[in-house]
Amino acid sequence: MSQVKESLLVRGGRLITEVDEVVGDLLVEDGKIAMIGSDLSSQGADREIDARGRYVLPGCIDPHTHMKMPFGPTFTCDDFTSGGIAGAFGGTTSHVDFCMQAKGQTLDEALDTWFGKLEEGPPVIDVGFHIAVTDLSSPERLDELRRLPERGVTSFKLFMAYKDSFMVNDDTLFRTMEVAAETGSLIMVHAENGDVIDLLIRRALEAGQTGVRHHLLTRPPELEVEATGRAIELARLSGANLYVVHISNGAAATLVERAREEGQAVWGETCSQYLALDDSVLDTDDFEAARYVFSPPARDISEQDRLWEKLASGSLSVVASDHAPFRMKQRALGKDDFSQIPNGAPGIEERLLLVHELGVRPGRISLNQMVGLLSTHPAKLFGLYPRKGTIAVGCDADLVVFDPEVELTLSVDWLHSRTDYSVYEGIKVKGAPVDVLVRGQEIIRDRELVAEPGTGRFIARGLPVTGPTRKRSGR
Ligand code: URP
Ligand code: ZN
Ligand code: ZN
Repeated sequence: MSQVKESLLVRGGRLITEVDEVVGDLLVEDGKIAMIGSDLSSQGADREIDARGRYVLPGCIDPHTHMKMPFGPTFTCDDFTSGGIAGAFGGTTSHVDFCMQAKGQTLDEALDTWFGKLEEGPPVIDVGFHIAVTDLSSPERLDELRRLPERGVTSFKLFMAYKDSFMVNDDTLFRTMEVAAETGSLIMVHAENGDVIDLLIRRALEAGQTGVRHHLLTRPPELEVEATGRAIELARLSGANLYVVHISNGAAATLVERAREEGQAVWGETCSQYLALDDSVLDTDDFEAARYVFSPPARDISEQDRLWEKLASGSLSVVASDHAPFRMKQRALGKDDFSQIPNGAPGIEERLLLVHELGVRPGRISLNQMVGLLSTHPAKLFGLYPRKGTIAVGCDADLVVFDPEVELTLSVDWLHSRTDYSVYEGIKVKGAPVDVLVRGQEIIRDRELVAEPGTGRFIARGLPVTGPTRKRSGR
């Protein structure tokens, strides 16, 4: 892996990790953090970044993105170049994207397809892959799954919703969990009951209810809670480590919390959209609201407080973006039938800005907790720690110099995704990344892009750092 050979001094910043904070200097050499001290100016670094009055954070890691993901007849509109640039502006230095197995495809073929996307859209930040398993109909797939950790893919995703496309049945879910338990890999689930959602959608359409609001009405929180509980029980029985993605409500988060209290290796993620938006955005049949169609949908506003509480208490471990951008023209596929609107929202650039603005500034979480949620916990769960996810000698110099005084109003006018709207348009934030380094190389300098596509690399990930796993007999 190529590294930057020159040395760099990051001077006088507030160095913030999940567990502490000191004011000091960081010396970066050959892409790694070489020294941390109170005055390293005598080391004669080639270059210097003045970080006085600013926070220096470990680079954020987004474990949930969808670049060029197929959805029905279309694809998310960011590739690894444009999505990675948006991420970099938002302080994200690595992301883990979902490689989707097409029905009938081998898992190795699916991975090769995703490596092709990485070549077609070279990234500026580092990239890893999860595999999203959709088809285990051939027995060889299980052996391929067992070998995936050798290719640096140590997390297996299963969709319990999106019937007739990505959704798997419990047989596939459970067999994948058994392989994950054998290999120590992490199971990720999109937890919604896809069969019942499909029934509710068919009933709505038969009743002529085709407008956008029916996306919300056909995906009630009960169906997310039910699937979360099912996934937890199946993981317990199989002995697999489980990570529930995009939890939108407190009841589902409580199931994760209880299972972990009982000693099960289960973690939960929520996403910026559930912290910043509520279901009023879909209380309309004006098609402009199609921009807010993602799954699970935004919930009642009271859930935002419950999610912040779960983040502050450690019950939820990660805030991801679930970056899945579609332009309004693509959303129009569902103009006459809400169920055809491609699901997902852009957000890779806004994640740190929103968590800082809505979480840290009002005192709901501390700066240290923010670092845990956006960097250290994803690094540990997705096999990147301690190479990434913290600030320590020997780590990759993935760093964000964050100015807490910069004021911005979120707007499609300057955000960097290829979408033609932002679901966070108009939200004012105070605090933003000004310089971003990936393995010691400046990617963003003074809020300008200074790197060429291709400076980011594929990262082969290790196994998750997990807690105790207890099988059903131990309950
Ligand atoms: O609506 C969403 N979340 N779209 C992206 C795919 C997924 O379900 O994560
Ligand atoms: Zn999902
Ligand atoms: Zn997703």
